[in-house]
Amino acid sequence: MDTPAVEVTGLTTGYRNHLAIEDITFTAASGRLVGVLGPNGSGKSTILKSLIGLLPPWYGTVRVFGQPPGRARNRMGYVPQAEEVDWDFPVSVRDVVAMGLYERKLGLDRFRRVKEAPIIHALERMGAAQLANRQVGELSGGQQRRVLLARALVRDPDLVLLDEPAAGLDATAEAELLRLLRTMADEGKCVMVATHDIQGVYDTFDDAVLVNRHLVSTGPVRASLTDHSLHQAFGRQLITLQGIDHHEHHVEQSHEVRGGQEHERTR
Ligand SMILES: Nc1ncnc2c1ncn2[C@@H]1O[C@H](COP(=O)(O)OP(=O)(O)OP(=O)(O)O)[C@@H](O)[C@H]1O
Ligand SMILES: [Mg+2]
Repeated sequence: MDTPAVEVTGLTTGYRNHLAIEDITFTAASGRLVGVLGPNGSGKSTILKSLIGLLPPWYGTVRVFGQPPGRARNRMGYVPQAEEVDWDFPVSVRDVVAMGLYERKLGLDRFRRVKEAPIIHALERMGAAQLANRQVGELSGGQQRRVLLARALVRDPDLVLLDEPAAGLDATAEAELLRLLRTMADEGKCVMVATHDIQGVYDTFDDAVLVNRHLVSTGPVRASLTDHSLHQAFGRQLITLQGIDHHEHHVEQSHEVRGGQEHERTR
């Protein structure tokens, strides 16, 4: 079998002495569009940060294309959650996108000598080519999102990690983004998206990773997103998916995890 794009085994990590996620295990394959779902504070962003290598594991392992994240960095594109980005520095849109072409941070004058074509192409794909010479700090929130997406995609990464990428996008941009992500997955890339749009994932994504500090379920969406697993992840919050089979008795290819132990779902 091919090496999965992402292989996370028993991952426990957090911030300073704050434990954020515990014993998370899942894989994500190339060619798949994968939703990372869970309530606020459940560890979605923490998982993506672990995959890009911003956060080292306390326990467990993270492998990206069979390697530690640091060695696969140039095959990944990452867009952090909007709240985590500080735009308070004077830099142009094209320079921000150019940064995506480099693994390591270079002096800004280096960016001005890089090839223009991939930068403009990436901005065009995000419908933002006309913003190329603007300062990022003066753009609207949705325009800044498009620029960050262009930065993540400019190097044509094999693993795309997006943390709530549609936040702040207008309806057209969101629909275009989804189409683009679908195309990238169909081209053989692994696309992982942290999102609160459970119905959207259920309707149009391939797989889900459902978390609530622990792993709740993972696998193809129809199998991993069930009344039971959603209730486990979101507790009393009422979530009703359209088109879900509320009476299914048997689930293949997915597993749910309770109290750290896998168990077959028979209901
Ligand atoms: N920089 C940080 N310092 C300390 N604790 C943090 C930090 N970032 C996140 N946490 C904590 O880690 C846990 C998981 O947070 P995380 O950001 O991964 O959740 P999330 O699922 O992405 O939530 P949201 O839907 O709100 O984006 C939470 O308890 C949160 O308080
Ligand atoms: Mg988050």
